Amino acid sequence: MEKIQMVDVVSMYNRHSKEIDRKIKYLINKGSFIQGNEVIGFEENLSKFLKSKHTISCGNGTDALYIALMALDLKPGDEVIVPSFTFISTVEAVCLLGLKPVFVDINPNTFLIDVEMIENSITEKVKAVIPVHLFGQCCDMVEILRISKQYNIYVIEDAAQSIGSSCVISDKLNRKFSGTIGHIGTTSFYPSKNLGAFGDGGAIFTQNKALAKKIKLISNHGQNKKYSHQIVGLNSRLDSIQAGILNCKLKYLVSDNNKRFNVAKKYNELLSDLDWITLPKKTEKSDHIFHQYSILLSEKVNRTRFQKYLSRNKVPTMIYYPIPAHKQNAYKKFAIKKLSVSESISKNIISLPIHPVLKNSQVKYICDLIRNFK
Ligand SMILES: Cc1ncc(COP(=O)(O)O)c(C=O)c1O
Repeated sequence: MEKIQMVDVVSMYNRHSKEIDRKIKYLINKGSFIQGNEVIGFEENLSKFLKSKHTISCGNGTDALYIALMALDLKPGDEVIVPSFTFISTVEAVCLLGLKPVFVDINPNTFLIDVEMIENSITEKVKAVIPVHLFGQCCDMVEILRISKQYNIYVIEDAAQSIGSSCVISDKLNRKFSGTIGHIGTTSFYPSKNLGAFGDGGAIFTQNKALAKKIKLISNHGQNKKYSHQIVGLNSRLDSIQAGILNCKLKYLVSDNNKRFNVAKKYNELLSDLDWITLPKKTEKSDHIFHQYSILLSEKVNRTRFQKYLSRNKVPTMIYYPIPAHKQNAYKKFAIKKLSVSESISKNIISLPIHPVLKNSQVKYICDLIRNFK
């Protein structure tokens, strides 16, 4: 059997290597490395795919969050509600701008931000919320949009893990893609993401023209034309070569997301009778593109021993995330409440390999091993 990878970026490249190599060679020979038509074309393609009015590419998903917050003109000391159970960038971007993160818990079944706790955490100082569409499915955007309107706070969707995932946004069964629902949405093209580049990359989405203009300015030194700087900005741009690679890969995103879904379905089928494992739950309002397939182990199971056992048998696993943000040294000063769900889940969660080229026989091998764990 072929080696099982957590994410097999090389095999995924090999499927389309001719097309990608041709594109890279073309761009090198053109001498176009930063911005240019390839990047504009990618932004247009992504806008079309996600039905987003505006897409602005940038250096990475962390910058995307940082730029989004900058564009909203939040002032130091303003508060931003964030889930504690997330990749650290969500919190980092808030703190780098002198804003204060207000940590909230997650739903124990979906691992997504607890909407009731968002509402309970709102004060005069709270100006925004960052729902993170963790592991590939969308937060409850119907409720989050209601809260945003009722309390007049901005919504920045962190869609780094959910590109191509859509959800219901109103009672009328109206669906939209993650990242295009809030005031601003962000994503990451980190190589292991569902739409991964061969280096860093990110994008910002908005449906508001004025915000789009500002985001574009910020991401490119605040300049509207060369050497004409209108506002303080930064250098956060997508390389042409990354845009070229992403243009090739975008065509396969839907089928790749479907393949991931089928892998998850197979895991569900083969693991559903094990009473010491809780399988990931899909919400009714969102679809799931399974950026991660994360299971919860019962408290009786020693996770380290389980992980070592799988590793000995050539099955890689990852812990997303072992320590919630409010327990991290850098951020614990902002922790005001005990977030018991995030704390307990970080101790019991473990993610199994998932990617579009994982074979049924490999999933079966992994599940047989799990079944035989003692
Ligand atoms: C939820 C979430 N937000 C933000 C990011 C940051 O993206 P990047 O690594 O491109 O900076 C990531 C990437 O791992 C992520 O998973």
